[in-house]
Amino acid sequence: MINLFAVTTRGLEDVSAEEMASLPAVRIDEVGYRRIAAAYAGPIKSVLALRTVDDLFIRLAEWHGIGHHRAALATLHQLSLDLDLWQAAGVRGQVSRLSASPTFSVSANFVGRRNYTVDEIKQAVAGAIQAISGWAYQTGDQESEINIRLFMEHEQVYVGMRLGERPLYKRAYKQAHVPGSLKPSVAAALLRLGGVRAGETVLDPCCGAGTILIEAAQAGAVAQGGDSAAAALEAAQTNTRAAEVEIDLRLWDARRLPLDAGAVDHVVSNLPWGRQIKIEIEPARFYQEVCQEMQRVVSSRGSVVLLTTLPRLIDLPAMRLTSERTISLFGQQATILVFAR
Ligand SMILES: C[S@@+](CC[C@H](N)C(=O)[O-])C[C@H]1O[C@@H](n2cnc3c(N)ncnc32)[C@H](O)[C@@H]1O
Repeated sequence: MINLFAVTTRGLEDVSAEEMASLPAVRIDEVGYRRIAAAYAGPIKSVLALRTVDDLFIRLAEWHGIGHHRAALATLHQLSLDLDLWQAAGVRGQVSRLSASPTFSVSANFVGRRNYTVDEIKQAVAGAIQAISGWAYQTGDQESEINIRLFMEHEQVYVGMRLGERPLYKRAYKQAHVPGSLKPSVAAALLRLGGVRAGETVLDPCCGAGTILIEAAQAGAVAQGGDSAAAALEAAQTNTRAAEVEIDLRLWDARRLPLDAGAVDHVVSNLPWGRQIKIEIEPARFYQEVCQEMQRVVSSRGSVVLLTTLPRLIDLPAMRLTSERTISLFGQQATILVFAR
C-alpha cells in the first residue's frame, strides 16, 4: 500500500478524485485545495497513467502550524531532518532506476501570505535532506532524479516525493505549442466532463496544437478537428505524429464546418480567448456563430464541453447547460460549461 497525494488544477479536484477512484485498489482519503490524498495498492504503471492529475507524490509527511514568520524556515529545516526518505525512494526506484546517490530537487508552492520566499523554503529543506541522505541537490527540477515537493496550504504542509520521473501533465507528445495551448491534464478533464467514451467521435473545431484531440484519441475516441491558423495545424500535426495517433485534421473556419448535421458525438474545445488569441471579428459575433455551428454538428445524444473566459457569450439554445465551473488557468479564471441535448 502506497500513500499518495495528487496535485491537480484548481476547480478540477472532484474530476481528478473521481478518475483516481475509478482505479482498482484506490482509497481516497481526502480531497483538498488542488490536492487529493489517497492510498493505493495496485500496479504503479496504472496510477502513473492517470490523465487529469498534474503530478503524483508519495506522501512523506504532513506538518501543521507552519506560520508566516521567518522562524518557520528553521522549523522546516528541523522537520526535514526527520523525513524518512528511504522507503519512498525504494518505491520511486521501481519507476526508473536511481543512482546509488541520486540527485534531488525541491519544489514548493504556498497559499497564504508569508515573510519568506519559495527559494528560502527550498534552501531550508534541501540543506536538511542533503545532510541526512548525502544526495546531491540540484536547483532545477528538470535534471534531478528525485523531486521533493512541499505543498503549503496556510499553516499545513504536505510533503511528498514525486512518484514518476517527471510531472504527469508533461506529455512526451507535446512538442509543438501555440499561444494558449492547453495543459493536457485539463484537456483530459474536459473529455471526462463530457462523458466521452472509447469509440465515440470527438470534434475540436478550434484545435490549436491538438491537445484535446490527442487526449481523446489516446482514450480510444475517434478524434477530428481543425483550426483557422496554418501554424496551429502544423503544431497539431507534429504533436499527433509524436503521440502516434490518427486524427483527421483540417484547416477551416469553425464558423463554417464542412460537416453534416449531427455528425459528431461530442464537441470539446477551448475557444480563442480575447487576451491570448486574436479573433478576426468582434468576440460576441464570433462566439454566436461558432456556437450555432457546434450545436448543428453535435448528435442528438451528444455533449458540448467548452472552456472559455467569456462564458456569458456562450449560447446553445437547443441544448441544456448541465454544469458550469470555474478553474484557474494561466493565472486567470476560466469557465467550463457542459451542455447536453
Ligand atoms: C485557445 S486556442 C486552442 C488551444 C488548444 N486547445 C491547444 O491545446 O493547443 C484557440 C484556437 O482557436 C483558433 N481559432 C481562432 N479563430 C478560429 C476560427 N475562426 N476557426 C477555427 N479556429 C480558430 C486559434 O487559431 C487558436 O489556435
